[in-house]
Amino acid sequence: MKKLYIETLGCAMNVRDSEHMIAELNSKEPYELTEELNEADLIIINTCSVREKPVSKLFSEIGIFNKYKKESAKIGVTGCTASHLGKEIIKRAPSVDFVLGARNISKITQVIEQRHAVEIDINHDDSTYAFGEYRTNPFKSMVNISMGCDKSCTFCIVPATRGDEVSIPSDLILGEIAKGVKSGAKEVMLLGQNVNNYGKHFTANDESTNFTQLLQKISKIDGLERIRFTSPHPLHMDDEFLEEFANNPKICKQIHVPLQSGSTSLLKAMRRGYSKEWFINRCEKIRTLCPKATISTDIIVGFPNESEEDFADTMDVLEKVRFEQLFSFKYSPRPHTAAAEFKEQIPNEVAGARLTKLQARHTEILDEIMEAQMGVEHKVYFDELKAGGKVSGRSDDGKLFFVEGSEELLGKIVNVKVTKVSRGALEGIVSA
Ligand code: 5AD
Ligand code: SF4
Repeated sequence: MKKLYIETLGCAMNVRDSEHMIAELNSKEPYELTEELNEADLIIINTCSVREKPVSKLFSEIGIFNKYKKESAKIGVTGCTASHLGKEIIKRAPSVDFVLGARNISKITQVIEQRHAVEIDINHDDSTYAFGEYRTNPFKSMVNISMGCDKSCTFCIVPATRGDEVSIPSDLILGEIAKGVKSGAKEVMLLGQNVNNYGKHFTANDESTNFTQLLQKISKIDGLERIRFTSPHPLHMDDEFLEEFANNPKICKQIHVPLQSGSTSLLKAMRRGYSKEWFINRCEKIRTLCPKATISTDIIVGFPNESEEDFADTMDVLEKVRFEQLFSFKYSPRPHTAAAEFKEQIPNEVAGARLTKLQARHTEILDEIMEAQMGVEHKVYFDELKAGGKVSGRSDDGKLFFVEGSEELLGKIVNVKVTKVSRGALEGIVSA
């Protein structure tokens, strides 16, 4: 059997794309996954380009592949960096056999047959394409509900790598989720660049399901107990959606509300479409409707023109919302984006100092939140076996748990009482 070495960088969407590529490859010829580079017949690096760092890493990785790979092994570069660099990749690294963009992964079985194939059409429409079945972990199921993005945030490269937004027909989504349930998953993670904008861009115009209605349809699937989704956009968090989130017992009470900046004028320059007040109001609405919900966010510091006052607004939102999870980044200018051309770029040291301050304050908040968890009981869905006789899983509100146990716990939702807290995870014992 041929062997495949696949490295996946970036977001959950990329993780699912890798699963789809494996399924497609297997539909033609079975591949066995390997972690040994020198054994592989096919090497794929599924890339991310949201910030500059992973892009520069790509070419040094290709150098490593060249050094250790079997003579006959093929190398493919796929994903977002493939989309935006295209044939440049082969020019810089001729040992690469094919380049396959994030919007073109259904063509994997075609490009492996060709030398130096480059498929990067960002408007390629795979919304009704039936991918084969493959899941890295039978207890974890991820299902795409849309492709691409219809926004034009001035910092973000994604519209240039994943193209225009298209919603996937709801019957295909329901079918995919049902397959996951059949093979053991009690939980689904719905994926899209702006999940709660679902339904605005169907290719066929005879469907009118919106995101709230999609959630209602999904929650009727027998055997499915939990629904998660990532990422929603604050702009599309209307009351109807937030009420569904709060009141539908199958929807996990964890929500990602990506802030980016707390300053209304910076949000305008970012073209986010909401103000500081709207953002705080939405988070307050979530806390009122559903006090047990946890809120996570993404924040960029050092966006062009960011003043001390702008940054103070970001710190102020952090104080007011007290996010349970924070993903924070220094602004990184990206090709094909408007902000890369903005004049007032912020010096690296200033951005670095702001990032440190933001993260330090968040750590204090997180420590307070986690300490209050001692002795609390959660329903945890266990989905992964860990080293040292441990099993990991997540509570309904998204907290990561480790308990002592065996595979018997996998695929089950059980009560766990917290016995030890740390910043990133909780430990506990299974209670009756
Ligand atoms: N620089 C820094 N962070 C970025 N993100 C997106 N583009 C950039 C950029 N150019 C962050 C945003 C987004 C997350 C996935 O990555 O916070 O929500
Ligand atoms: Fe995912 Fe964005 Fe990275 Fe593409 S650029 S892999 S969409 S995080």
